[in-house]
Amino acid sequence: MTQDELKQLVAREALKHVVEDAVVGVGSGSTVNFFIDALATIKGRIEGAVAASEASAERLKKHGIRVFDLNSVNELPVYVDGADEITEHMHMIKGGGGALTREKIIAAVARKFVCICDASKLVPVLGRFPLPVEVIPMARSYVGRELLRMGGQPALRENYKTDNGNLILDCHGLTIMDPPALEAQLNNLAGVVTNGLFARRAADVLLLGSPDGVKTSTARR
Ligand code: 5RP
Repeated sequence: MTQDELKQLVAREALKHVVEDAVVGVGSGSTVNFFIDALATIKGRIEGAVAASEASAERLKKHGIRVFDLNSVNELPVYVDGADEITEHMHMIKGGGGALTREKIIAAVARKFVCICDASKLVPVLGRFPLPVEVIPMARSYVGRELLRMGGQPALRENYKTDNGNLILDCHGLTIMDPPALEAQLNNLAGVVTNGLFARRAADVLLLGSPDGVKTSTARR
């Protein structure tokens, strides 16, 4: 099976978690694109969606799925999104596609976070994938120096602006032994909007696609 076929497999499996007549949270990225396409097949059974990126919102609208502003939604039973890395503890690195801030906001609102991934994303320790940090432009150099002091090697994502008008520093070389602690430490740096560690609000369900099928894991909390 190709990686795209695995992504499609988990995307279809995620439909089982979508709550009828409710708004569903939709993340961003290539796996989520497959989920949006799958969601279109049941669009008559949902109220609509909130989207973590302009790209996801566009794709949803093209399928005729109503897109709500998160501020107009009182509750969100489920949020479906991919990840760049995930551990068995359901801690994740996200933001490879640059949508980390909106993803984190929607994840915070959602009652259940369903992470959809192909098996290549499951890792024992986070950090091989460079950790994205969204920064206000004037804080770029300061935050870069702080990341260096913390043992990372930050690189400015070239020719890139987030949907929020900010910059991304991709921080290489971190071996992340305590994801919730690092997540908080990075968020405390002045000028950081958010970082791509999703550990304080981890996933609740992981749907992992492999050639043997989809493995479903549920967080023990
Ligand atoms: C975007 C994300 C994505 O979920 C993450 O990058 C995974 O993307 P893909 O499904 O394309 O591998 O966090 O900001």
